[in-house]
Amino acid sequence: MTDLYSNPLATAEIAAEKIAEITGKKSHHVALVMGSGWISAADALGVPTHEFSVTELPGFPEPTVAGHGGVIRSYNLQGPDGVIHALVFLGRTHLYEGKGIEPVVHGVRTAVKAGCQVVVLTNACGGINVEYRVGQPVILRDHISMTGVSPLIGADFVDLTDLYSKRIREIVRAEDPSLAEGVYVHWRGPAYETPAEIKMLRTMGADLVGMSTVPEAIAAHSLGAEVLGISLVTNAAAGVTGEKLNHEEVIAAGKAAAGRMGELLRRVLPQL
Ligand code: HPA
Repeated sequence: MTDLYSNPLATAEIAAEKIAEITGKKSHHVALVMGSGWISAADALGVPTHEFSVTELPGFPEPTVAGHGGVIRSYNLQGPDGVIHALVFLGRTHLYEGKGIEPVVHGVRTAVKAGCQVVVLTNACGGINVEYRVGQPVILRDHISMTGVSPLIGADFVDLTDLYSKRIREIVRAEDPSLAEGVYVHWRGPAYETPAEIKMLRTMGADLVGMSTVPEAIAAHSLGAEVLGISLVTNAAAGVTGEKLNHEEVIAAGKAAAGRMGELLRRVLPQL
């Protein structure tokens, strides 16, 4: 039997076929993963043609964290060259849930198997760079993995030089030149970092820290998709202001910025 852990790519293929069956769309063009607090930003994309639970597809675990959805939507978006089919994941599985790496990247693998050549990964993060403000979106220019966990197994020596596609970053910044670009650190969590760890990460060249995105970016890129990462700074990282970190505030900051983020995505997605 094919299951997520014994054959992740075949399971993603079956999940992609199920999406085609549910939506009646042979393929999708662009995928969007909405992280914590980003879920209401998806509403700016208009009315989806279809909405269904991830649990209708093989390989997706039940969502476990408050504020992290477990729902997939399909949208028809009007692009310059016709209608674009967008697949939007409301929520994701994180490494800190302890289910291993496979469920973490199953959504993006499914999306690429469903035809998506562009994968947009959004997340909530702590701002390490002291110039960043809460509620500010930042485009990912590069990343540092502090988990060391890769979704790739075997001699799959993928080049990551242009992991966060320069072509796409240019399109996004043409829409909004005020957007900053930064280096994102993947921290396993679920505990937030200590102030000493944030100091170390800043010294290493990091601007942002969060608990997602990096494995999905690698998995999508290794299957040939182009990746865009956008972080929403929901708090100053530990020790930056002396304030304590709190999950509810992270979600609330995401919700407060959802309008601006949704509008940006609505303008950019059809161009990708
Ligand atoms: N650290 C790690 N992950 C996060 C943070 C943070 O400060 N804020 C939101 N996600």
